[in-house]
Amino acid sequence: MYDKVVYQIYPKSFKDTNGDGFGDIKGIIEKLDYLSWLGVDYLWLTPMYLSPENDNGYDISNYKQINPQYGSMEDLEELIKQADKLNIGIMMDMVFNHTSSEHPWFKQALAGDKYYQDYYIFKDEPTNWESKFGGSAWEYIENLDKYYLHLFDKSQPDLNWDNPQVREEVKNIILFWKEKGIKGFRFDVINLISKPDVFRDDNEGDGRRYYTDGPHVHDYIKEIVNDTGIEDCITVGEMSSTSLDNCIKYSGSKTKELAMCFNFHHLKIDYPNNQKWVLAKPDLKQMKFLFKYWQEGMQAGDAWSALFWCNHDQPRIVSRLGDEGKYWMESAKMLATYIHFLRGTPYIYQGEEIGMTNAHFKSIDQYRDVESLNMYQLLDKNEDRLNILGERSRDNSRTPMQWDTKIRKSWIEINPNCKNINVENQIHNEDSILNYYRKLIKLRKTYPIIAKGNVEFIDTKDDELVIYKRFLDDDVLICFYNFSDKNLEFDCDLNYFFGNYISAPSNFLRPYECAIYSKGIY
Ligand code: GLC
Ligand code: CA
Repeated sequence: MYDKVVYQIYPKSFKDTNGDGFGDIKGIIEKLDYLSWLGVDYLWLTPMYLSPENDNGYDISNYKQINPQYGSMEDLEELIKQADKLNIGIMMDMVFNHTSSEHPWFKQALAGDKYYQDYYIFKDEPTNWESKFGGSAWEYIENLDKYYLHLFDKSQPDLNWDNPQVREEVKNIILFWKEKGIKGFRFDVINLISKPDVFRDDNEGDGRRYYTDGPHVHDYIKEIVNDTGIEDCITVGEMSSTSLDNCIKYSGSKTKELAMCFNFHHLKIDYPNNQKWVLAKPDLKQMKFLFKYWQEGMQAGDAWSALFWCNHDQPRIVSRLGDEGKYWMESAKMLATYIHFLRGTPYIYQGEEIGMTNAHFKSIDQYRDVESLNMYQLLDKNEDRLNILGERSRDNSRTPMQWDTKIRKSWIEINPNCKNINVENQIHNEDSILNYYRKLIKLRKTYPIIAKGNVEFIDTKDDELVIYKRFLDDDVLICFYNFSDKNLEFDCDLNYFFGNYISAPSNFLRPYECAIYSKGIY
C-alpha cells in the first residue's frame, strides 16, 4: 500500500466520447493508457450510479445500476477488465450517509411505510442544526407531520444506521461491487453516519459536534468491514471535521477499520473562523502547524493518511496556494512535491497533473453546483457574491479535463485557458508539470524512504518556509518548500537530490522553489 498512488476521476468532466457534453465510461477506458503511462495504481471514480444528479451523483437512487448518461454496466465491467490488465484497480465511491430522495426506500417512507421510515431519521420536532449546503438540516413532510434529517441538500435524506437492516443493505451493496472486481472503496462522509441517541439544539454551532465521529461510528465501520471482507481492498474514509484521535482509530494498525483517511483541516486555512463563504488569505503558519500535528500524530498512532490538495469539492490548489501567473509552473510543481514527499498515500485529482486553475466564471448562470446555487441565494446581496463563489465554489474543480486546445460543448463550460494548459502540450515536454508528476510517482516507487520513512517537521522563522525531514534506517531526506514569490534564505549541507528548478539553489530558495536534500540516497 505504501508506494501506491491514487488518481481521482470526476467522470462527468473527464472524457466525453459521444459528444453529448457528459464524460462517460468509454472515455475513461480510452484514457487508460495515459493513466498507466502516468504510473497511477488506482482510479477513484466519483459516483456514476443511478441518480437525479442533484448533487452530481452523491444523491443515489439505485446503488446497483449505472446512470445511462455514463454508459452501461457492461461498459463498467469492461473498464474493470481493461484497467486490471494494466495493473490499475478501480475504487468506487460509496455514499451511505444518505440516499437520494428519489430512492425507492425514501419514496416508500414518504408513502407512509413504517418499515422504510425507520431507514431514515424522522422526528416530530426539528433541532436548530444547519445543513452543510445552507439552511435548516430538517425538511417538513406535511402528510406525515414529521421532519426528516438531511445534513446535505434536502434531496439527500440521512440514513438511520442504528437500524440493523440499513447496515445489512449497505453490506449487500459493497459485496455486489466487490464481486464485480472492484479493488478499492472510498466511503463518503463516513464519520457522520452515527447520530446521537438524543437530538438537541446546538447553541454554540451548527449541530456538527453531535453527529461528527458519532457514538457508534467505529463499531459500525468495523462491522461493515468485517462482514464484507474488504480488508484486502484499499479503503479510504472521507472524514468531515474530524479529530486526530478518531482518525487514529479509523485507520490505525490496532483497530483495522479502514486503510486510510482524508481530513480537511489543511484546506480550511483560508476560512476565517471556519467560515467557508468569507474570503481571507491563507494562514500559512496555521497550515504548517496542521501538517505537523497530523503527520506526526498519525505516525505516532501508527495510522495512515490520504494526502491531497485537490478533489471535486475544492478549488484548484495552484489558484489557491500557488500562482496562476508568472510562477504557475514552479508553484504547481512545488505543491505537488510537498504532497508526494509526505507520509501517506498521494491522491491526484484529474487536471492537477497539468496545473489546471480555477474556473473564473463571471455569471451565476455558469455555475452548476447545488451548494453554490444555494449559497448564492443565502449570501448577503450586498456582498460580492460572484467573487466569493469565484474563490470558493466546488465548480472550480469540476470544469472539463483539458486534453487539448479545443473548446467543446459540455454540461459545464470548459476553462478557456485550455488553449495553453492541456495534456497535448505537456505530454512530450520533459519539463512540463505533467512529466514532473510522473517523476514524483516513480520516485515513490523507487525509494522506500519516500513511501515508508518517518516524518518530522522542523521549525522555521518564516511562515512561508516549510521544512520536513523523512528518515528510514540511516537514510535522510530534508525537504524545503517556499510557499511565496519571494526569495527565502535557507541552509543545508546534505546533497541536492531533487527539486522544481533546473539547477540546485544556492543560499536562498527562489519563488515557490522546493529543494530536497539527501544523505545516503542518490
Ligand atoms: C462528500 C462529497 C461531496 C458531496 C457530499 C455529500 O463531501 O465529496 O461531493 O456533496 O459528500 O455526499
Ligand atoms: Ca458522453
